[in-house]
Amino acid sequence: MAGGVIVGGNVSGKDYPGKLTFRVFVTCLVAAFGGLIFGYDLGISGGVTSMDPFLKKFFPDVYEKEHNIKASVNQYCKFDSQILTLFTSSLYLAALVSSIGASTVTRVFGRRLTMISGGVLFLAGAGLNAFAQRVWMLIVGRLLLGCGIGCSNQSVPIYVSEVAPYKYRGALNMMFQLLITIGLFVANVLNYVFSKMENGEGWRYSLGFAAVPAILIIIGAIFLPDTPNSLIERGKDEEAKEELIKIRGTTDVEEELKDLIAASESSKAVKHPWASLLTRHYRPHLTMAIAIPAFQQLTGMNVITFYAPVLFKTIGFGANASLMSAMITGGCNAVATLVSIATVDKFGRRSLFLFGGAQMFICQMLITVAIAYKFGINGNPGVLPTWYATAVVVAICVYVSGFAWSWGPLGWLVPSEIFPLEVRSAAQSINVSTNMIFTFAIAQIFTAMLCHMKFGLFIFFAFFVVIMNIFIYKFLPETKGVPIEEMHCVWQKHPYWKNFVKPAEKQANAEC
Ligand code: BGC
Repeated sequence: MAGGVIVGGNVSGKDYPGKLTFRVFVTCLVAAFGGLIFGYDLGISGGVTSMDPFLKKFFPDVYEKEHNIKASVNQYCKFDSQILTLFTSSLYLAALVSSIGASTVTRVFGRRLTMISGGVLFLAGAGLNAFAQRVWMLIVGRLLLGCGIGCSNQSVPIYVSEVAPYKYRGALNMMFQLLITIGLFVANVLNYVFSKMENGEGWRYSLGFAAVPAILIIIGAIFLPDTPNSLIERGKDEEAKEELIKIRGTTDVEEELKDLIAASESSKAVKHPWASLLTRHYRPHLTMAIAIPAFQQLTGMNVITFYAPVLFKTIGFGANASLMSAMITGGCNAVATLVSIATVDKFGRRSLFLFGGAQMFICQMLITVAIAYKFGINGNPGVLPTWYATAVVVAICVYVSGFAWSWGPLGWLVPSEIFPLEVRSAAQSINVSTNMIFTFAIAQIFTAMLCHMKFGLFIFFAFFVVIMNIFIYKFLPETKGVPIEEMHCVWQKHPYWKNFVKPAEKQANAEC
């Protein structure tokens, strides 16, 4: 029998009392505003780069190429410009670096302060972008936005997983992804609306609007309490107990508090979390911290997120239809995420991963056939019939839904719940930075990939989807319903990982 199939559920048999209180719900919702920031940014650049006034002002060469390209010339290559993609991708490079710094802030000063810093950086970036006159202002603005994202993506998922009662951790954590998709959708809608502005300055509004989610997270995070885990980590045990009583809605928190304190004690014995992560004991954690975000990006989802309007334009849609189609796929993403929220704590993480993966694979194949059929190798489709355009949009929507109930939310949820406290901040930074490296790479090379690989682009990603399904099947244990401080049991009982994670070696509360 494969990897994680036999483990899962509440492996340690512990059942902390406590319900889903209003306070927890609001707290998690506010924290998840960090997702809004991320989503807005993911969604905004693709639409902006398909607006002519923006291209004319900052990227005149691309504008010329797009408009003067003869119908007989290869359509796959009309957006191939490294400086244009740098506008999108630079953000993720900055996020990569800042998420590493954010690890220390998160550990030493708490999760909240990291979120506030993220909001402030984001606000500065949005301002610079909205008033940009030169390309460098755009890029510096994007770098600031990226630093903000590094901070919030490092802290929010951890925050939510620590505050949520374990039985609802999956659903609450996925609010982060839900807000990412809402941010994305809002960005798609606003791009559509602002692109119609007659003065050609709509792109400034699209970029400047990013200030709204930034202000929301700053205000929200000022009022958020710190997590009990973080308070204990910083020696404030009494405050932690009071907070635990409030968020669990019961005074019967001794058992959970005891385990949190025990986890914190063992974590203090680990002086160098980064070095520890390299030891054999943490091999499963390190593997997941790298593999999950890398695979999330290798699904190819961000080809759609960033470049749906460009892709739709490439395959022959008009400017309006392209932004409209991007809006439709953005809507599917948000709605499908709700399905995941409703089912993740019932069906578990593994089944959603596997089901979503299969669905994406089938759609990628269909999209490949559809594009190959009309565009062939030379990328010259002639007139596209409506049925064809509709079929492509539907296939992309089903693909996006597959991502939205699997790798999208789970790509953030699973890493945030599997790391023990002593390495949690460091491992989460690896998770975020790996995600950002791959996001950067795909954002940067997409137009070149499209130009050279043509319809084969989707086969490239489909190949990785097969690999990741095998990986999940064999190596990812089920973590549904396991209290976060009991997670070591899941590894100790896993047929493969048990060879690495030894009982009583590092954990204070080691019995399973
Ligand atoms: C991913 C992003 C992606 C988004 C789309 C997130 O979980 O990290 O890269 O663009 O989902 O919904």
